[in-house]
Amino acid sequence: MLTKRVKGVEYAIREIAAVASEVAKTGKTIYNLNIGDPVQFDFKTPEFFSSALANASKNGKNYYVDSLGVIELRKEISGLLKTRNNLNVNAEDILITSGVTEAIHFIIASLIEDNKELLIPGPSYPLYINYTNFFDGKPVEYELNEAEGWEPNIDDLRKKITDKTQAILICSPNNPTGVLYNEKKVKEIINLAGEHNLFILSDEIYDQITFDKPYVCPASLSKDVPIIGLNGFSKTHLVTGWRLGYLYYHDPNNKLEELKNGIKKLARARLSASSIAQFAAIDILKTPSDHTIQMVRKLRERRDYSYKRIRQIEGLDCVKPNGAFYIFPRLDLEGLKKWKNDKDFAIELLKETGVCTVYGSGFGDYGKGHIRLTILPNEQILEKVYNEIENFIK
Ligand SMILES: Cc1ncc(COP(=O)(O)O)c(C=O)c1O
Repeated sequence: MLTKRVKGVEYAIREIAAVASEVAKTGKTIYNLNIGDPVQFDFKTPEFFSSALANASKNGKNYYVDSLGVIELRKEISGLLKTRNNLNVNAEDILITSGVTEAIHFIIASLIEDNKELLIPGPSYPLYINYTNFFDGKPVEYELNEAEGWEPNIDDLRKKITDKTQAILICSPNNPTGVLYNEKKVKEIINLAGEHNLFILSDEIYDQITFDKPYVCPASLSKDVPIIGLNGFSKTHLVTGWRLGYLYYHDPNNKLEELKNGIKKLARARLSASSIAQFAAIDILKTPSDHTIQMVRKLRERRDYSYKRIRQIEGLDCVKPNGAFYIFPRLDLEGLKKWKNDKDFAIELLKETGVCTVYGSGFGDYGKGHIRLTILPNEQILEKVYNEIENFIK
């Protein structure tokens, strides 16, 4: 009954949640460190955003809107790209989507078939792997090198370019490592893409969440290599459930015309992204707000605390994250002996302590031997979590 392509879909982040529901039935308190949703912690959606959404509906904006997105919102985003990243992107080169998730879907659906390859970072956010497989392509992971602070390994990337490669994906700040790509490496990736006539997909959903150094937008570093940027409102605007995102084209020499037209067709076929979320987003972007600054301040403290505690636990070690809200400790499985692999560890940890993390192998081969935790809970909860992990390992 069920197609092979659907049978093949895996999403460790949600799969572990299913185990957590079973554990919760036994009465155990569950510490949800598996899903990157700040709104479920003490990062509340600013009141003004909720009013803007309610007003959009009260003011009758409850209809299908332009499939490519409400033009006023696309103009606001064009202005934002100029002020933030000094990019000149016309409103017509911006497409509004139901989250970055839909943007990834549209791009991979338009680009991948018949074993064509997409170069993605390893470890990788699972969606890139899933969609590439779903459309009969081959996700090829290039190494993010843990020993070098999870920097992309350019030699490995170069070796993996073939005549089937369609594009190179960058995700910085990165999920699951929490690390920003260094600017020099981004430039090298852009040069490599240029040499091979490839373009770059840049997942920028965490661009405003950085702790130690400012974000540098890849498109601002590229003179003529085309870059498709993916971004949205979920994380930095604290509206994960609104499902609002966008993609933009930095395409100085118009190399992406055919792809752009294909993506437009897909957008029309699904009618439109949420109308009220789009009208609310216009108000939000027009109104200054310091909620992201406050969010980053809190997260930086939680990052510092998490990094300190994890490094004190025997059998765990980790690179210090400098963006997003994840930390990706390595398990010394040989030293710990008791657990076969990261999945075994994560599931047993969950069953015994209620601490719900995601096993690293859910992020592809390079994620093996790790677990991913979010640093979203407040310090009292984080303290309990790290105590639990420490006792569990002991
Ligand atoms: C790297 C990355 N890209 C995209 C998404 C999905 O974002 P959206 O809510 O805009 O669909 C996530 C969500 O966790 C993510 O971590």
